[in-house]
Amino acid sequence: MVKADNVKKDYTIGKVVVHALRGVTIDVEQGEFMSIAGPSGSGKTTLLNLIGCLDTASAGEIYIDGQAVSGRSKNELALLRREKLGFVFQSFNLIPVLTAIENVSFALSLLGLDSDTVQKKSMQIMEEVGLKGLEKRFPNELSGGQQQRVAIARALVKDPGIVLADEPTANLDSNTGKDILKLMEELNKKHKTTFIFSTHDSMVMDFAHRLVQLHDGLIAKNGVGKGGGK
Ligand SMILES: Nc1ncnc2c1ncn2[C@@H]1O[C@H](COP(=O)(O)OP(=O)(O)OP(=O)(O)O)[C@@H](O)[C@H]1O
Ligand SMILES: [Mg+2]
Repeated sequence: MVKADNVKKDYTIGKVVVHALRGVTIDVEQGEFMSIAGPSGSGKTTLLNLIGCLDTASAGEIYIDGQAVSGRSKNELALLRREKLGFVFQSFNLIPVLTAIENVSFALSLLGLDSDTVQKKSMQIMEEVGLKGLEKRFPNELSGGQQQRVAIARALVKDPGIVLADEPTANLDSNTGKDILKLMEELNKKHKTTFIFSTHDSMVMDFAHRLVQLHDGLIAKNGVGKGGGK
């Protein structure tokens, strides 16, 4: 489903080269609920950005559904992101001038579906994430946890196969964070969507069924997670 093969990423700032990833290999199966954990600066965001085709590796290869991503044009990568990947961010990143349901349906309409299908699927996913009745609120009329639910609905509505979430609970209090993890876990089970989420919070890691730990741009540990949280 997702594979990183000896992936390296260097950033150059002036004359300084930062080795953000120094050879990372992981193989993620369809339907996994996986966390990429590690301290600040260990390379979590860098790895998610490479898997998400938002940035390109300095060396090594990323495979999505068995297909190598390097050498593809910007348009091809945009299409791949649109069809196969959903994104959830730490700061929710909703479009402020669109209502909750419009944030969700906009993402789906980009796939060229007819408007009845778009509306129906959007309503359905809003209900699944527990936001029935709040569809017409604007992002600034929702709590952080509710906004993140909209973001999850937006990521899931197109049935993307893979959802990448970079510290999805970092801006939420711990109880709301747990609820978001539980929701993600439920959606993972129901839709068989692969979830890869990053965190430096041990409470969040405990939800993962598989835990990959990064340290200084290398995998320090790759094993079974506790799963289910506390
Ligand atoms: N655009 C960039 N230019 C230069 N260096 C960068 C850039 N992005 C990240 N880095 C560096 O690469 C390393 C890995 O950063 P990354 O953002 O992947 O870490 P992280 O594990 O996500 O950290 P955090 O928990 O703080 O989000 C760090 O040393 C960081 O300073
Ligand atoms: Mg980060």
